[in-house]
Amino acid sequence: MPKLLLRDLRQVVSPAGADAPLRGRALGELDLIENGYVLCDGGRIEAVGRMSELGLVDSDVEDVDGSGLCAIPGLVDCHTHPAFGGDRVDEFSLRAGGASYEELHAAGGGILSTVRATREAGEEGLRRAVERHRGWMLAAGTTTFEGKSGYGLDRETELASLRAVAAAGGVPTFLGAHSTPPEFADADGYLDFLLADVLPEAAGVAEAADVFLERGAFDAAQARRYLGACRGHGLALRLHGDQFTEAGAIPLAVELGARSVDHLEATGPEGIAVLAASDVVGVLLPASALFLDRPMPPGRALVDAGAAVALATDFNPGSAFCESLPVVMSLAATQLKLSPAEALSACTVNAAHVLGRADRIGRLAPGFAADVVLLDAPDWRYVAYHLAGDVVATVIKDGAAVPRRAAY
Ligand code: NIG
Ligand code: FE
Repeated sequence: MPKLLLRDLRQVVSPAGADAPLRGRALGELDLIENGYVLCDGGRIEAVGRMSELGLVDSDVEDVDGSGLCAIPGLVDCHTHPAFGGDRVDEFSLRAGGASYEELHAAGGGILSTVRATREAGEEGLRRAVERHRGWMLAAGTTTFEGKSGYGLDRETELASLRAVAAAGGVPTFLGAHSTPPEFADADGYLDFLLADVLPEAAGVAEAADVFLERGAFDAAQARRYLGACRGHGLALRLHGDQFTEAGAIPLAVELGARSVDHLEATGPEGIAVLAASDVVGVLLPASALFLDRPMPPGRALVDAGAAVALATDFNPGSAFCESLPVVMSLAATQLKLSPAEALSACTVNAAHVLGRADRIGRLAPGFAADVVLLDAPDWRYVAYHLAGDVVATVIKDGAAVPRRAAY
């Protein structure tokens, strides 16, 4: 494989320093090189610098003219639900007419309607679905994605979902505790089954476990039992928490040393203070809040209090049918009041930390994966500024340009 030289770039931008996760003032500190280059070798970044300091590149080099383009690190989506069958376009229309997400869920729609379609998809159908969704993410600049199970809720389909995410190159997370399926009378009985019959094999594929801690889903005691067992199988821990109500997700995440607690639309001042004093990352999902017309999570307050935050899409068919981290960055700026620089660090280095990969991805620096997004824009901040704009020109994953592709 020849070396890859991205040259004459208008701007080369990367989160500053080498720490992770970034918090406080450091979240918004970037290294910005005008008229720069990125040299990649064997899927890794060899050097980053100014064109004026680029020495002779002696060996076999493929050369990309970056004139007029800005380079940022490949984006990292640390929270998605890509393993599903069917769609929720009818529910979307009903919500537009005033039905609420929680009411639809309680009436057996919502997550459980996707569970029915996902079970019908079969392993091959799930693989094709995740592959298609991964293509959408790549086109939007996401070079690393996490993908959850959670729409199978039976042994076969949960395991098939995790395998489909892994087969598409994603980071699999076991979200067996997403909802209680209709064949179980109660959540505790379902958890007994999950822990005895699914977890042992799921833990061989997944890197992390996740739970939906919310009224109508699982309570704090049930989440503690599930996550404790998952930790016993070597999985990192994540929680969906404070989406509609504060039901104890942040204290539980801190108690268990979870990697992250995600959503936080309902988090108040006490939760902000507890999270800020901890090592748990708050993953903010503003596309989900927008899609459900819910309050935005308190992003600015979390950053100002010193919490480590990441941004993700929450891509799924019900609450966030959106695979675009650039759109999420726009929402972070306009709704959460994060600067574009803070938003960039939140969906690169901090998201990589949530996935346990901050030493390998999320920065344009020597030794990191050659995952680069080239923006066709006069300033890198257009990635957030141009709302849903066609700014992502080229996506490079492991040192190779990803071909452009059709939507369906
Ligand atoms: O993160 N809130 C729980 N789970 C997903 C949505 C699942 C769905 O509606 O299908 C979320 O928003
Ligand atoms: Fe989610």
